[in-house]
Amino acid sequence: MQATNPLPEIVVQRVEPALRVENLTAWYTGTRPAIGGVTMDIARHKVTAIIGPSGCGKSTAIRCLNRMHEVIRGARVEGHVYLHGEDIYDPRVDPVRVRSRIGMVFQKPNPFPMMSIYDNVIAGLRLTGQARNGSRADGLVQGALEAVGLWGEVRDKLRQSGASLSGGQQQRLCIARTLAVEPEVILMDEPCSALDPIATYRIEELIRELKQRYTIAIVTHNMQQASRVSDFTAFFLAGEERIGRLIEFGETEAVFTNPRDKRTEDYITGRFG
Ligand SMILES: Nc1ncnc2c1ncn2[C@@H]1O[C@H](COP(=O)(O)OP(=O)(O)O)[C@@H](O)[C@H]1O
Ligand SMILES: [Mg+2]
Repeated sequence: MQATNPLPEIVVQRVEPALRVENLTAWYTGTRPAIGGVTMDIARHKVTAIIGPSGCGKSTAIRCLNRMHEVIRGARVEGHVYLHGEDIYDPRVDPVRVRSRIGMVFQKPNPFPMMSIYDNVIAGLRLTGQARNGSRADGLVQGALEAVGLWGEVRDKLRQSGASLSGGQQQRLCIARTLAVEPEVILMDEPCSALDPIATYRIEELIRELKQRYTIAIVTHNMQQASRVSDFTAFFLAGEERIGRLIEFGETEAVFTNPRDKRTEDYITGRFG
């Protein structure tokens, strides 16, 4: 009997990643790179965790994603990082503009100590050469502080020093400073490692909220944190050659419950690192 209906057409929906990392290799000095041949996608409006033992190149990798690696004297990068299809390493691309589209939050909360809470939020804009004045600035500051859940806590003391806040509040202030620049991607390098469990919990909640509007990549040495907040996990490891490599990448649940690589399994079960 002849089939009367043709087979239904299979529609493959391709969702473009926010960032596509292609064969990324980064050096500090000399000939041995700190990371080698990293290729991975960072999905839009998802959280991607980068995990692995100390020294495997997590910070190096994430700093290559917004052209911060190259600010270190002698450091260099090969490979490509595409932000919505545009190579951020194209020589015509302005790294300052890249850093305003791809923001970074660091391990230790680093509000500018001589600046007020208000000016700290605005500082990111100044650093990237954009300026806002008067009520537009006020609205922006309020919006960014609201987005990180800090507005209620600081609205009456916006002129106080950013350093007067608790560690967790300071980290949320730093995230607000990053948001004020209106980036598309937010990179976080162990943002909770200096915080207590409650402050950590609040940042994790915030990360889950922020992914509605932003793409997030987070380095963490805390595997529980990776499994709590991330959709995708990248496991890095430096072998005997001491070059950090991407060993496994996948959906977080799969990486943690059913890793493909023995080395991933050894790491997540606590056998090393
Ligand atoms: N500023 C630097 N100069 C020279 N080597 C560095 C520098 N920062 C990191 N490294 C080296 O690069 C490798 C990867 O480090 P890093 O990316 O900081 O790892 P992780 O964040 O996973 O702990 C390590 O061998 C480290 O010693
Ligand atoms: Mg690091």
